[in-house]
This record gives sequence, structure tokens and C-alpha cells, in this order.
Amino acid sequence: MTLSNLSREERRFEPPRELAENANVKEEAYERAARDREAFWAEQADRLDWGRTWDRVLDWDNPPFAKWFTGGTINAAYNCVDRHVENGQGDKVAIHWVGEPEDDTRDLTYRDLKDEVCRAANALTELGVKKGDRVAIYLPMIPETVVAMLACARLGAPHTVVFGGFSADALASRIADCGAKVVITADGGYRRGAPSALKPAVDEAVGKAREQGQEVETVLVVRRTGQDVEWTAKHGGDGGRDVWWHDVVDSAFPEHEPEMHDAEHPLYVMYTSGTTGKPKGILHTTGGYLVGTSYTHWAVFDLKADTDVYWCTADVGWVTGHSYMVYGPLANGVTQVVYEGTPDTPHKGRWWEICEKYGVTIFYTAPTAIRTFMKWGADIPAKFDLSKIRLLGSVGEPINPEAYIWYRDTIGGGKVPVVDTWWQTETGQIMISPLPGVTHGKPGSAMKALPGVAADVVTDAGESVPDGSGGYLVLTEPWPAMLRTLWGDDERFKDTYWSRYADQGFYFAGDGAKKDEDGDLWMLGRVDDVMNVSGHRLSTTEIESALVSHPKVAEAAVVGASDDTTGQAVCAFVILRESALQGDGTAPDDLIEELRKHVQKQIGAIAKPRQIMIVPELPKTRSGKIMRRLLKDVAEHRDVGDVTTLADSTVMELITTKLSSGK
Ligand code: WT7
Repeated sequence: MTLSNLSREERRFEPPRELAENANVKEEAYERAARDREAFWAEQADRLDWGRTWDRVLDWDNPPFAKWFTGGTINAAYNCVDRHVENGQGDKVAIHWVGEPEDDTRDLTYRDLKDEVCRAANALTELGVKKGDRVAIYLPMIPETVVAMLACARLGAPHTVVFGGFSADALASRIADCGAKVVITADGGYRRGAPSALKPAVDEAVGKAREQGQEVETVLVVRRTGQDVEWTAKHGGDGGRDVWWHDVVDSAFPEHEPEMHDAEHPLYVMYTSGTTGKPKGILHTTGGYLVGTSYTHWAVFDLKADTDVYWCTADVGWVTGHSYMVYGPLANGVTQVVYEGTPDTPHKGRWWEICEKYGVTIFYTAPTAIRTFMKWGADIPAKFDLSKIRLLGSVGEPINPEAYIWYRDTIGGGKVPVVDTWWQTETGQIMISPLPGVTHGKPGSAMKALPGVAADVVTDAGESVPDGSGGYLVLTEPWPAMLRTLWGDDERFKDTYWSRYADQGFYFAGDGAKKDEDGDLWMLGRVDDVMNVSGHRLSTTEIESALVSHPKVAEAAVVGASDDTTGQAVCAFVILRESALQGDGTAPDDLIEELRKHVQKQIGAIAKPRQIMIVPELPKTRSGKIMRRLLKDVAEHRDVGDVTTLADSTVMELITTKLSSGK
């Protein structure tokens, strides 16, 4: 997507009249919040139940280390479940859970959820989990995942959920980095109609974490698929660690007194890719995070908790699943759908069938999914009744105008507003988005910062750019759900986000953005070595290190090349070691597949390169930095750009000749 074709997008959509009249948030909120930001967030904090009220809304005495609602105490699990039961909502469905195998469904009311969370909290306590201990969660999209997260939150034991698609190595490094002594997992999950094992990866990860100095004492295993698993029983006297979830949770007491934790008590750590090989542990704390996620979920989706049925299709292993499937929606007491499987199992209309069955009214997904459905054809959703849908959301990457229009027309019947929500793992909450009852929709624009949020687009020097120009996206004021630091690494936290605009005190998001003539914001993707594949963040350097860890690879460079479906795709350029080459100097046929598998093993299937190109050299500057821009030109089949800053200007010619010879 280029600046010029964005600015040709002239379509505008007014908010539907009825929605605008009954909107939760009206125009005046922007001004009210700007007048007194702290008073605005204090007002939003009142939607939650606190143990003790805060003394100060924001403590920004020691930037960039923010403290929100200091002196306040709160329990996230109590706010997500117990209080709804106490308010007479116990029989309301919290989760319509839909398993991947058809007819494998479960409805959990808020009371069911409360009982389960209490049982799990009691069982974890029994297993020795105390406030402050870290718990890793490696589970498929099943109700127990939500229960496990809330049980940890209840105890004040920060969880770190690791996406089930990540490898044993990735799981091990996360366990070691945050020092988790308990892992909650399942025997397996269902993926495209077949059981897919999880427990073996945990067994491997536990061994690897030990090598990195972290001993996992307990592995709590949910029986999901019933497949065979290796087992070393914790209570078997042989020094094992495995415990079945049903053995300890089902029999536990369904009442548990929640302790009110400090507002700044750590709630969870979520690992995400940065520009170096080592993932960053984003730390979110309790009070501000819950305020930020519950307010934005209510405002952006114009949530009417009594009548809406909400569905966010994200996996719980990503921040979207944390903020807009678990904490935001449950704090708001909504009824929602949680689906275990993939959109095409057992048929390509599965999502729309689920929308019809449960009468989904608010639907939140990613552009990559929308583009996939576009490819499959409009006749598939046309077979289902989607007339209850009244709001559509998008997240994860810029939504191109074509996908926006298709989404609005085909899923939204040509009348449903689309909210394009920009935010990050770090921001915890939606930051830039239309308000459906206020904002004119512009296909492809995330529009403007929400009430209480302050964003700008600035030059290299940190000056605000005029309307009609592009620059770097920054956040200019603290916000309640902001990350507090990187787990165990305050220096990297300061360096990554706050050093670039240290003089101005801005948070550097790492995204390029443009202000149009009306001052509305258009997101233009990352400006650093981070790729966005299907809305998932991947680091070029992390994949490069995975490749060079293979004995046959000498050097590797990875770029994100644009891709019609996934937004970007991983393209790798690899220099082989001499010893890997055959007598005639070419690479063996099966080597590329071997390298792709190696990356999958090291990081996970999402990181597997779409394409690996064996090249004789890599383009480098005189200071030795790989010029990925030039490789991107090759990967995207463009003429190669300016090569004058290369140490050896003939390298690109060598590469293109080699690639066109096909050897
Ligand atoms: C990066 C954050 C927020 C949860 C999902 C991804 C990109 C996200 C949008 C959007 C344009 C977007 C940005 C951002 N991004 N939403 N609506 N429009 N770009 O979370 O993995 O932390 O990635 O995703 O580049 O920096 P994440």
C-alpha cells in the first residue's frame, strides 16, 4: 500500500442513525478527556469494583515508568466473574464455547465460570502456586484456558500464555526468561479435523528450560483429545511433575476468597518479537490494564452487554485474545463466542455458521482472515444469516480499502460500520480507532486517537507533521493499559520505546503513519525490522538466527515481502557453507525444505519462510549492516533500488543473476 493510492480513497460512511443516537460514547467525550485526562480515566475506573480506592490516578514522577491508580487495590478475576454473579447475572452465558469437532460445544454461565475459576485457584494453591509466582500457559482455545488465566489473576500469579503454535524451543525460552515453575497445558488440541499433540513439546521445553537454569516443578495437563501422552506423575514418588487437571481441579472447592491486589501488581507477561533475536516480555499490571481494556471494549464496540453477542476470533495466545477475549469482555459482563478451530474446518463457512447459530452482533477479526474469505468467495457467507451483526472490527495490520469494503458489504450487509483498531501488545488497549456512533468511516483509516489517548505523527526530529504528510507514529501521553516495562529488562524498555524521542518524552511505536487532509490517521506498517505476517509479529533477526543455527547455513537475511493474503510473507536469503554444496556447486534439492522445517522447529509454523533463496552473497553496507531494502526489492520482483551505499556494488547483480539462473 503506498501513500498515493491511499489518498485516492474517497469513500465515506456515516454512522447509522440509530447507532449514533444510542451510542455509548458521543463526540463530547474527546473534548472532556482532553480537558482533564486523569479525571476522564478515573471516571472510567469507576466501571470496575475496587477493594480500596486509589490515592492518585497517575504517578508519572519517574518516566517512562508509569503507575496508575496508585494505592488502589483490585482483583481482576473478581471483576471478570464474581461481581457479575453477585449482580444477578449468574445465569447469563459468559462463553458459548465451540470446539473444532462439530457438535462439541459447551455453554458456560458466569456462575459456571466463577465456580471453575475458584476450583482452579484452589487447586493451584494446593500445588504450591503463590502470589507473584509465574505460570506458563500453553493450551488450545478451550474454556480451561480462560479459567487458568483467571485463576492465576485471582491469586496474583502472573501468567504467560504461549501460543500453541510456538515450538518447544520458544516455549522453553519464555519459561526460562520469566522463571515459570508451573506450566498448564493439554494432551493436545484439534487442528483441521485431527488431534494435534501439545504435551510432547512441553516435555521437551521443560528439559530445555532446565538447561537454561529454570526448573519446572509442575505440569498441569488438561485432557482434551484423549491421545496417549508420556507421563511422570508428580505424586508418584519418582520425581515426576505431571498432574491431570481433572484430578485436582474437578474435586476442588468451588469457593475462593479473592485477595485484592495492588493496582500495579503484575497481571501477565506476553512475549512479542522485537528487532533483535530475543523476544521481549511485555509486562502488564492489573488496575490500569483492566480500566483501559474494559473502557475501550465498551466504547469502540458500542457494547450493550444485555443484548450483544460478541465474537473476537483471535487466539488467546496473542494480546488480542487477552484484552478483547478475556479481560475486556468479561469485565464488561458480555456473552461471547470462543471457537477452538480454524475457519475452514470442516468447511469454509464455519465462522458464518457460528455467527448465525449464536446470533453474533459484534464481530472482531484480522484483515488477513478477511482477505482469505474474499479469495474463497462471497457466496460462502451468503449462505448464512448474518443479519444480527451490527458492528465489525479489524485489527493486526492496516486494512486495505478493498478488504474493508468487502467486509462491510459482504459480512455487514452494506450497512454495518467497520472499526479499524490500531494498537500493540505494548499498548494493551485499543489506541486509535473510529467510534462507531461518532466517526465517519474511511476505508483504510484508523482515524484518530480514542478519548483519553494522545497520538501524533512526527518527523525524525519529533516535530508534529502537518495534515497531508507522513512520519512516525508516537503516543504523547501515558495511558492506563500501557506496558510497565520489559520483564527483567528496564534498560531495553527505555531503549526500545523511549530513547528515540527522549527529549519530548514520546513513546515510539515503531509504525509509520500519515495524516490526511482532515488530520485523520492512516497506518503504514512497521518502520523497523519487524514483519507482520497474518497480523502476527515476527522479527527478521529472530528468523535469521534460527536459520544460521542450522549447520549448513553460513549467513541469512530475512525480509517481509508483501503478500496478497497474509499482508507480509517471510522471505529468506541464505548463504550456504561450502560443505553443504554438491560437487557442481549447487545446493541439494531437499535442502530448502529442510531449512523451512528447521525454522518451524526453532520458532513455530508461523515463522516458516514462504520462500528461501540460496544466494552467493548478501548486500551489506560498509559498516556491515545487511541492506534488507534491496533484498525486499528482489523478493517483491521490483527493480533493485539504489546500491551506492553497498560495500560491494556488484553483489546485487550476483544475486539476481544467480536467482534467475534457477540453480
Ligand atoms: C503492530 C502490533 C494489536 C493486536 C494485534 C497485533 C500493527 C496492529 C493495526 C491496525 C495498522 C496495525 C502495527 C503495530 N497493527 N493493528 N489496525 N492498522 N497496523 O499486535 O503483535 O503487538 O503488533 O501491528 O504495525 O505496531 P502486535
